[in-house]
Amino acid sequence: MEYDIALLPGDGIGNEVVEATIPVLDAASEKFGFEFQTTWYDWGSQRYLQKGEMLPDTAYDQLAEHDAILHGAMGHPDVPDHISSTEGHISIRREFDHYINLRPAILFDSSLTPLKGVETEDVNIVWYRENTEGEYIDVGGRLNRGGSTEIALQSSIYTKEGIRRIAKSAFRDAKTRSKKVTNVTKSNALSHGPVFWDEVVEEVSEEFPDVRLENMYVDAANMHLVQRPEDFDVVLSSNLFGDILTDLTAAIVGGLGMTPSANLNPNNDYPGMFEPVHGSAPDIAGDGIANPLATVLSSGLMFDDFGQSSAAAAIREGVEAQVSDETAPKTPDLGGSAKTRDVVDDLVTRF
Ligand code: NAI
Ligand code: MG
Repeated sequence: MEYDIALLPGDGIGNEVVEATIPVLDAASEKFGFEFQTTWYDWGSQRYLQKGEMLPDTAYDQLAEHDAILHGAMGHPDVPDHISSTEGHISIRREFDHYINLRPAILFDSSLTPLKGVETEDVNIVWYRENTEGEYIDVGGRLNRGGSTEIALQSSIYTKEGIRRIAKSAFRDAKTRSKKVTNVTKSNALSHGPVFWDEVVEEVSEEFPDVRLENMYVDAANMHLVQRPEDFDVVLSSNLFGDILTDLTAAIVGGLGMTPSANLNPNNDYPGMFEPVHGSAPDIAGDGIANPLATVLSSGLMFDDFGQSSAAAAIREGVEAQVSDETAPKTPDLGGSAKTRDVVDDLVTRF
C-alpha cells in the first residue's frame, strides 16, 4: 500500500512541526510495511505578502489529488488573522466539505495536567465540532465603514442536514465508547440557531436509543470540564464553541502542543486534513522549540483514516511512553528544555 500525502506546513511553527513529523511517518511506514510519498506545498502568509493570495487558484485541485493533507498552521503577524484563516485552512475545510472536526484530548501522563488530583484514566475526551457552518459561515457585512454610524453584521447559519450529519458522527462514535454524548449548546440565550440545533440533536439521539444525550450550556461546560473532566467522553458542539473549548481541553491534557485534530468527510472522496489544534505561534517561531507532538498525533489520526490502526496506535503509545518517561526530552511547554528535533529523535526509537 502506498499513500500520497500533501504536506501543507503553512506559517511559523507550522513548518517546524510538519517537518519534524516526517521521521515519524518514516518509522511507522517501515515498521508497519506500507509506503508513502509526500509533496510539500509552501502556501500561506508568505505567499499572501508576495502575491496577495494565501493559496493559488489551483490549490483545491492539487490537494484533491492526494490521499491526505498534513497541515501545520496559518497565521502571520503581518497578515490580518481573519484573512489567513478564512482564505487559508478554513477555506480548505469548506471546499472539501470537511464537516467533522474531530479533536481528541487524551491525558497521556498525569504530570501534564494543571488540574489537581486528575489521573490519566480521567481524561479521554473526543470532541465532534461542526466544521462547515454555524458561526464560522462567512456571511455578514459592514455598512458606513469608518463613520460614527458604522454597523457590522455577522450571521450564523445552521442547517438541518448540517446538524444531523455531525450529530450522527458523534452518536455513532459514542456507541463504541461510554454511550453518552454531551451536547454543548447555548439555547437558553440564543433562541433561533441553538434551539434548532438542540431539536435536531434530540431527533438524532432517538435513532441511538442505547446512547444517552446530555445537554449542557457552554458556560457550564467550561466550568465542569475543569471541575470534573472525567464526566466527559464524546462531546458535540457547533463550530465556535468547539473552537473555544478545545483549547481548554488542550490545557487540561498538557497544552496546545498535545492536541491533534482531523477534518473529515467520510461521505466524499476528498482527502482529510490533519492538523494540530494550535496555531502558528509567532512568539516561538524559528526557535526550534515547538512541541511537535500535536502534529505527530495528528498523523496518528491520518493513519486511523487510512485504516492503518496499528500504526496509529503505535504513535499514541510512543507519545505516551515518551511523556511518561522522566528522562525523555521534552520541549519547554511541557517543562523541559529540549528542541523539537530532540523529541522526534527520541520518539522514533520507541517504535
Ligand atoms: P497559537 O496556538 O499559535 O499559540 C498560543 C500559545 O500557545 C502561544 O504562546 C504559543 O507559543 C503556544 N503554543 C502553540 N503551539 C505550541 C507548540 N506546538 N509548542 C509549544 N507552544 C505552543 O495561537 P495564537 O497565538 O492565538 O495565534 C497565533 C497565530 O496562529 C494567529 O495568526 C492565529 O490566527 C493563528 N492560528 C491558526 C490556526 C490554524 O492554522 N489552524 C489555529 C489557531 C491560531
Ligand atoms: Mg482554535
